[in-house]
Amino acid sequence: MRFASRTSLPPNPIVGLSDKIASLPLKDLIPLQQGDLSMDTPREIMDAAWDALERGYTKYAPAAGYPELRNAVAKKLRDYNQIDLDPETQILITQGSTEALYLAVNALLDPGEEAIIPAPYYPPYDSLIKASGATPRYVGATEDEGWLPAPEAIEKAVNKRTRALLINTPNNPTGTVYPRKYLEDIGRTAVDHDLPILSDEAYEALVFDGAEHVSPMSIPSMRDNAIGLFSFSKTFAMTGWRLGYLCGPEEFIKRAGTIHNLVLAHVSSHIQIAGLRALQGWDRFSAPIVRELDERRRTLVDELNTLDGMSCKLPQGTFYVFPDFRDAVPGLTSQELADRFLQAGVGSSPGTFFGSGGDGYQRLSYSKVGIPQIVEGVKRMKRVIAQYASAGPLEN
Ligand SMILES: Cc1ncc(COP(=O)(O)O)c(C=O)c1O
Repeated sequence: MRFASRTSLPPNPIVGLSDKIASLPLKDLIPLQQGDLSMDTPREIMDAAWDALERGYTKYAPAAGYPELRNAVAKKLRDYNQIDLDPETQILITQGSTEALYLAVNALLDPGEEAIIPAPYYPPYDSLIKASGATPRYVGATEDEGWLPAPEAIEKAVNKRTRALLINTPNNPTGTVYPRKYLEDIGRTAVDHDLPILSDEAYEALVFDGAEHVSPMSIPSMRDNAIGLFSFSKTFAMTGWRLGYLCGPEEFIKRAGTIHNLVLAHVSSHIQIAGLRALQGWDRFSAPIVRELDERRRTLVDELNTLDGMSCKLPQGTFYVFPDFRDAVPGLTSQELADRFLQAGVGSSPGTFFGSGGDGYQRLSYSKVGIPQIVEGVKRMKRVIAQYASAGPLEN
């Protein structure tokens, strides 16, 4: 059998790492590599799904999603994102933001075209864009720049093949929350070149220290160019339910909806009703999750800063920290350090998973671990670092 070349593209390396870890005889692993949550989905949301099944939500549903759910999404966008959209024509209910991403990329990019992406970046963007026949063009940023690529560098990356700018705020892996002024600056490039700006906002609810999550769609000058990708996964601890939504200009939603209809028909009927209940209790459901994550975030960063050679800043969003280990273990690559951490019983994602600019860094997630595990995990890292310091850098 002959297969299409897109099937040879690399899968998400984080999923690959989790699969590898699951196959190892590791007892007592501290899983800082994963972007899933330890908290259960709130009981009320689970009950809503069960109740929906009993009430007959077992049949086909409208392709774009039930009107009542789209209306609730429109209300949430108005109340929390300051975005005013027509629920009938500008909102599409998707199977997680993963499907929303697939639809957006495939609705906008033809083979031979390019999409600009700030780096470090969420790894699936790479294969997803390549699978459409287009090419990702990365614009790197450093930690000193707050992980925000200079707007001039983004402007410079635009060429006649560029068809989209894909951003992610709050950002996986760095935890950076894009400031409004920065969004306005890079938005000018998008508007001047008539480029859609795809904004992956899967972590919109996970912001701390009073940081403001800003949707490009809420900025008046960008309204016609901005597309929003949203998720229920992280806000309500609903990662396994696979529910999200795509928002944007009417013609874009119509075309993305055509692909959605072909590949999925629609999101499972009872899951949509559970999503409706989730949106009706946004603050009640998400606040305890954010509070718990905030405590873990502070603990992880405080603990990391007790390690020799480490200075880890408090990220304002997501449930990741992205510390630089180069001074702690000079000469070790990210992958080598992640291998050593794994041997010591700590899972971590090497920074290079997120682009070459991530070498020397690790992405550590505090979403699946409580405070005692965080403290124990950093203790194990300390041992790895001390061992490396006493043995000296490896000879080549
Ligand atoms: C930046 C980013 N976008 C999208 C997703 C996909 O989320 P969903 O569960 O909504 O498909 C993730 C998942 O980790 C993510 O980190």
